[in-house]
Amino acid sequence: MISMPPIHLLEDHLINKIAAGEVVERPASAVKELVENSLDAGATQIDVELKDGGKKLILVRDNGVGISKDELKLALARHSTSKISTENDLYAISSFGFRGEALASMASVSKLTLTSRVEPEFAHEIGCEGGQFSERKEAPHPQGTTVALRFLFYNTPARLKFLKSADTELAHIHDILISMALANPQVGFSLTCDQKKIFYVKSGSHFKERIFELFGKETEQYCYPFQIGHSGLEAVGYAGHPQISRSHNKNMYFFVNNRPVKDKVLHHATMEAYRDLLMKGRYPFSIVFLKIPSEMVDVNVHPAKTEVRFSQSQVIHRLVYEAVRKILEAAPWNQAMDGARHAPTHDTVGAPLAAPPSLPFQFQSESDVFRGAASSAPTEIRPTHQSPEGNISQKQIQFGQTPYASMEVLGQFWGTYILCQSDDKLILIDQHAAHERIGFEKLLLQYKEGEIPSQHLLIPENFDLNPSQTAIVGPYLDDFKKMGLEVDFFGGNTFVVKSKPALFKKLDVKSLLLDLVGDVLEKGKLTSLIDQLHAVLARMSCHGAIRAHHLLTLEEMKAMVRELDQYHFTSFCPHGRPVSVEVTRYEIEKWFKRIV
Ligand SMILES: Nc1ncnc2c1ncn2[C@@H]1O[C@H](COP(=O)(O)OP(=O)(O)OP(=O)(O)O)[C@@H](O)[C@H]1O
Ligand SMILES: [Mg+2]
Repeated sequence: MISMPPIHLLEDHLINKIAAGEVVERPASAVKELVENSLDAGATQIDVELKDGGKKLILVRDNGVGISKDELKLALARHSTSKISTENDLYAISSFGFRGEALASMASVSKLTLTSRVEPEFAHEIGCEGGQFSERKEAPHPQGTTVALRFLFYNTPARLKFLKSADTELAHIHDILISMALANPQVGFSLTCDQKKIFYVKSGSHFKERIFELFGKETEQYCYPFQIGHSGLEAVGYAGHPQISRSHNKNMYFFVNNRPVKDKVLHHATMEAYRDLLMKGRYPFSIVFLKIPSEMVDVNVHPAKTEVRFSQSQVIHRLVYEAVRKILEAAPWNQAMDGARHAPTHDTVGAPLAAPPSLPFQFQSESDVFRGAASSAPTEIRPTHQSPEGNISQKQIQFGQTPYASMEVLGQFWGTYILCQSDDKLILIDQHAAHERIGFEKLLLQYKEGEIPSQHLLIPENFDLNPSQTAIVGPYLDDFKKMGLEVDFFGGNTFVVKSKPALFKKLDVKSLLLDLVGDVLEKGKLTSLIDQLHAVLARMSCHGAIRAHHLLTLEEMKAMVRELDQYHFTSFCPHGRPVSVEVTRYEIEKWFKRIV
């Protein structure tokens, strides 16, 4: 028999340390907690100073309401808060903090100093180290609060060991501050590390200005506002042009009632909205603010408060999907800055979030401050003014800007590209990508209208798959029928194709099915056909579309170009590749040195 020590209550300091394990994972989580406190205190300026990526010092200074000298010690106690009082408050949280444990947790794993002033009092300071408080004393400080954490995790060696390099920790802090600054454009933020200015945004900005300050002109120009609301819910934000997508999802920002969150529902809804606009492995630039009645969301899910739980996640999913998809369907990038491009095909797009940008050139010097810092910053730090990969402007080539209807077809290049001109532009259209998009949109329309017309094959085609491929494909044969593709078992592992979608008489069914087998193996079971409809139709249109090195007559090319204007998303094929690229006469003349 094992004998257990007697049960006893843990000491406060140990309880705080345990709580700190969840609340303070790394320097960035401490910065997040401190900045949230400053925001809750109504600060309009928040400055963060670090040493050694926050490992030696994290200092957050604000000009908020401050803490009265008599409450300084209490603020550091566990379960002490000014933000909620009754159980009902817990269900209607409007502040970032509410658990009353962040300062106590941080004080238990660092050497903390809290200095604050509430006018007209003098400022006071109190220290806490290893659970022991120092005497409160007067200290110079303007209205507001400064919290300094020195030597985070000095007394929790296991945690300390997990810290990464100073550059990596700094990069995490930078990320956190970017999302805080995005959600609070009226507040000024600065970040300094080892006395080097990493990042600075001024107070009193508008949202679009803030995007410019944080991400630079290209991103600001190529993201489009959306706003949709019903039944007390609202999704507001910006969706980026597919061309400013990235290979990571760090530029997908989500906020629930202004709280930055990581949430699968919002992430999935946004990715769905970009479906067939982005290449595999690419993620959009997107900012989604969900405004939701507090009874529909639980923010008390995790001590770090970065996760939430929705009571009706399907409703939220639909709203966000609809909001982002509609703005993308309207292809706002086709509305020329000079007004020459075609209008959105949907009139359902919400009112713009903010007035069109008047570029805040007065911030140039601040941006330069940052750009200077960024160029010498460690590689892991993402510069505030990121230039999107494969960026559009400032380069000589643009993607999908001109309406197809205005193009005059000149001919075919390399049996692959349709050459066109429009005003002063030379445009190259990828014939396979164009045909793929047209086919995809047609199939989708036909499917939505009831069924995809199919054409019976006079001479049925046969092909074989191996037994495991047969097992995967078998259950979907009925579904394919609804897509105009009739494939039956012929016995063993042999299949017979009886009819194909009328649009794609040359569809290579075997390779389509093999690709789908690959999809199933990669993503798991195709749960419902509707979930996979886009993927299957995209595959179908890819396999059915004309290929490169396929000669087209002038009439065929003209017909294809004319047709492109009738559908959504014709700037990209269903796999996210661009359909057209264009170059201006000005650029061409520069190539030939007619213009210098
Ligand atoms: N920068 C600040 N300015 C003014 N008051 C502050 C500041 N930081 C903390 N406080 C006060 O100290 C209290 C305790 O802060 P703490 O972060 O520990 O808890 P909280 O913010 O209430 O909840 P949570 O643990 O969820 O963050 C706050 O409720 C607030 O009254
Ligand atoms: Mg707090």
